[in-house]
Amino acid sequence: MTESLHILVTGGDGQLGRSLKHESVHFPSFQLIFTDLDDLDITNEKGTVTFLKERHFDAVINCASYTAVDRAEEEQDICHAVNAMGAGILARASSKHQIPLIHISTDYVFSGNQRSPYSESGVTVPLSVYGRSKLEGEQLVTAHAQSAVILRTSWLYSEYGSNFVRTILRLCIEREEIKVVNDQYGSPTYARDLALAILQILPEVIHSPGVRLFHYSNTGSCSRYEFAEAIRIFAGLPCRVTPVPTSAFPTAALRPPHAVLDTRLIRSTFGITIPRWPESLKLCISRIEK
Ligand SMILES: NC(=O)c1ccc[n+]([C@@H]2O[C@H](COP(=O)([O-])OP(=O)(O)OC[C@H]3O[C@@H](n4cnc5c(N)ncnc54)[C@H](OP(=O)(O)O)[C@@H]3O)[C@@H](O)[C@H]2O)c1
Repeated sequence: MTESLHILVTGGDGQLGRSLKHESVHFPSFQLIFTDLDDLDITNEKGTVTFLKERHFDAVINCASYTAVDRAEEEQDICHAVNAMGAGILARASSKHQIPLIHISTDYVFSGNQRSPYSESGVTVPLSVYGRSKLEGEQLVTAHAQSAVILRTSWLYSEYGSNFVRTILRLCIEREEIKVVNDQYGSPTYARDLALAILQILPEVIHSPGVRLFHYSNTGSCSRYEFAEAIRIFAGLPCRVTPVPTSAFPTAALRPPHAVLDTRLIRSTFGITIPRWPESLKLCISRIEK
């Protein structure tokens, strides 16, 4: 009989945490333990160290994050505490107990001024408080973890919480016309696909020392406008989607205009296949509509 692996998921009530919960049914030998802010605040170093000491974990998946990109411009302290310091605390605590860590980061570490997809060695120039805090989180994980994988992802959506897909679906139902920016490009990523990939690579990650960085997004890319139009079409909604420039929608935080991630390294290293974004979007919308 194979022994089950005990895996701690922080930020378990967020959209990636909830996606892991769903995908873990395909991995009966994994026992996932989900915590969120109330059970385990990753900014509390003493509490985090004690939590990991009192239980036995074979791996930690850090889905805890401050993700309010625009609000972060005002709430710099809390954003930095969770995304930078919290990541460092978790890396130190995991390392102290020899537990491998999977940490999630973002395409917002890039300026988005590069036309070709960003590889893992691409130069990082975050444009926002959120992006800077996530980059510092990566640096602290790299400095303190003994065994870790940092996964950068982009434009995450799911059937849970608030995200671009759910917002566009709601607006398309409420309005006759919506305006969406057509000069920001990226790769939409279905959180269930990312969750599945995390669980697929986990056994190999557990046995690998050192800190490695990978990019994971669904393959293919589009503008925000093309993404919104696909959402409308797949959901069969009659609303008109009109393309507008970013200047028509000023936001507190700057977004990278062209942050497409190159995912070849994670695919070749772990032999995983990644669905194209339109197929995954269709699947997500069909699940939302059920
Ligand atoms: N969403 C995107 O478009 C996107 C794009 C690229 C990368 N990412 C990255 O992907 C990862 C998962 O994102 P997500 O969309 O699943 O985020 P999410 O839905 O916002 O979930 C994050 C979770 O972390 C919790 N949390 C906040 N502070 C915490 C703390 N101090 N200790 C423990 N838990 C805490 C949040 O609780 P509260 O809700 O109570 O605050 C929430 O449940 C993050 O690392 C994010 O940076 C996201």
